Parts: sequence; C-alpha cells; structure tokens
Amino acid sequence: MPVVPATDETIARAAEALAAGRLVAIPTETVYGLGADARNASAVAGVFAMKDRPEFNPLIVHVPDLATAETLAAFNAEARALANAFWPGPLTIVAPKRRKCGIADLVTAGLDTIAVRVPGHPVARALLQASGLPIAAPSANRSGRISPTDASHVAAELGDVPDLILDGGPCARGLESTVVSVTDDSPVLLRLGAVPRSEIESVLGHPIHLAKEDAPIASPGQLARHYAPQTPLRLNADSAEAGEALLAFGPDAPDCAGASINLSPSGNLAEAAMRFFAALRHLDETGSRRIAVMPIPEDGLGEAINDRLRRAAKAR
Ligand code: TXA
Ligand code: MG
Repeated sequence: MPVVPATDETIARAAEALAAGRLVAIPTETVYGLGADARNASAVAGVFAMKDRPEFNPLIVHVPDLATAETLAAFNAEARALANAFWPGPLTIVAPKRRKCGIADLVTAGLDTIAVRVPGHPVARALLQASGLPIAAPSANRSGRISPTDASHVAAELGDVPDLILDGGPCARGLESTVVSVTDDSPVLLRLGAVPRSEIESVLGHPIHLAKEDAPIASPGQLARHYAPQTPLRLNADSAEAGEALLAFGPDAPDCAGASINLSPSGNLAEAAMRFFAALRHLDETGSRRIAVMPIPEDGLGEAINDRLRRAAKAR
C-alpha cells in the first residue's frame, strides 16, 4: 500500500508526483482528497477515471490563500467576506471563473464558474506550498460511496492507484466542506457541510437558502444517493431490531445485541460529525442485515449529518 506518514520528505515526493501529472491522496480537515494538478487535463482525467465519476460533476480547486483564489475566480464583496471569515477552513466558494486562469476545463466540467477552497489541514497547506500548484481534489472515494476520513479508508477504497497516500491522521471535521455559490445574485448554499449554515448567515447578515435538488447547474455533484454503505439504513430508529447494527447518538442510546457505535455519548454534534463516516464504514463491515440510526438533532452540524444520512439511505 502506498500509505506513508506525512513528513517534509514525503510531502516533497508528493509535490513531485503532482508536477509529473500523477495522483496523490491528501489529508484535509474535512475528508481525504484525491489530488491532481488542476492545470493538467490528463491528470484530472485520471481522477475522474479512478472515481468512476460522472464527468459533468466538477471538482474543487485547492489553493494556498485568498490571493491565489482570486487569480482563478472573480470574488465580489460577499465572497471576500466569507473567505476572510472561514479560510483556511472547510468552506468552498463557487464564483465566476476567470478566463485564462489556466485551470483545465475538465475540472469545472465546462461551467463558467469555479469552486475554490483554502484548506486548513497543515499537510494540505504544506503540499500546496511545496508544489506551487492549484490542486483539484474530490473526496478520495468511488463515486456515491462513503467519504474517507482516515488514510486507511483511502487505501481500502482506491488501493494502489494514487502514487502516494499521505497519512495526516484522522480528519478533525469529518464532513465535506460547505459549498456556497457567490455570484452577483444572492449567495446560495449548494452543499451543507462542515461550516454550519448559521455561521455563514451571521457573516452575510442575511439568511441563505439551499439550492433546489433539481437545479442541475447549481449543485451538479449532489447525487440523491450518495455517501452510501452497502448495508441498508433505517433512519430515526429508537431501538435496534434483531440482526441490526446500531448507529447511536447521545446519552440515551438503547441496548443493541449487535454491533453498535455511539457518535457522541454526550450529544456533541462536532464530535458526531468527526466520527460519522468512519462509523458508517465500520458498521457496514459487520455483516449486519441493516443499520438502525437514531435521530440526530437538525441544528448546527446536525443539518449536514442528516443530509448525508438521507442520501445514504436512498433506495438503490
Ligand atoms: O471537503 C471537501 O470539499 C472535499 C475535500 C477533499 O476538499 N472535497 C470534496 O469534493 O468533497 P467533491 O468533488 O466530492 O465535491 C465537490 C462538490 C460537488 O458537489 C460539486 O458538484 C461541487 O462541489 N462543485 C464543484 N465545482 C462546482 C461549480 N463550478 N459549480 C457548482 N458546484 C460545484
Ligand atoms: Mg465526494
């Protein structure tokens, strides 16, 4: 397996691999990404091929700072306010793409907008510095499956395909970045994620609405069935039935004869978000006939966790 601890030496090797058009799996504070040089169309095509990803689904470009982001995208005052408030960190901003920005058209799936993010994870930041490249990186899972929050998940999912899997430990946030589209119309929430909606609203000073699922350009990557384990899910369960595993939350978890994980016995949503994908992955591997999931409160990060749960539970 190409998993290596992230050190100055392995980060330098990863930077060389990116510059040579090869793929590298990278830790971020949200989930692990499968990175390619965003200017290299054939490297980016390799990302799509590895993920079995529909090509109309555009990728996020990771950059070291706001100044670099503004060479790729035209930010208005609201975009800049959001960047200043949340970068480095788990917010992705979709804005009009600058012509001649040098990013491969495949990255943006031919759209005239581009998604950019300045990640907060020290290893991702070090790799951006060492390579000097804009890095296109989707979550390092096959399309539709559970996002990886640990280097071992990437190895299990994508095997030997990336040149290197930089191990930067478990992801501290555990949910993908929140995606906000900021053009000259009012900002729209394209994907719920690691920055709660209320924090974005307090920076903007007004409410922000979630894009409608059937708006194809607005949120092309939001497949109805997504983040999905092989095992069926039963949501809003108050107990586990025979043969079911239990994904619990909070202090009042019921007994379960089978496998069971409590996302946060104290009822802390940030802890639950951090552990969520790894817990789903683990329970999926227990051979249970179904996973019963206790209700998660819909406030703060609970909104994004429930979004992932609903997509994971969609019938095949
Ligand atoms: O936390 C994250 O965002 C992770 C880490 C690796 O940074 N990346 C990630 O990438 O989740 P991915 O490819 O799994 O999701 C990217 C999302 C998709 O929903 C995609 O449709 C949306 O961003 N997106 C990208 N470019 C877009 C654009 N120009 N317009 C609208 N949506 C866009
Ligand atoms: Mg993804």
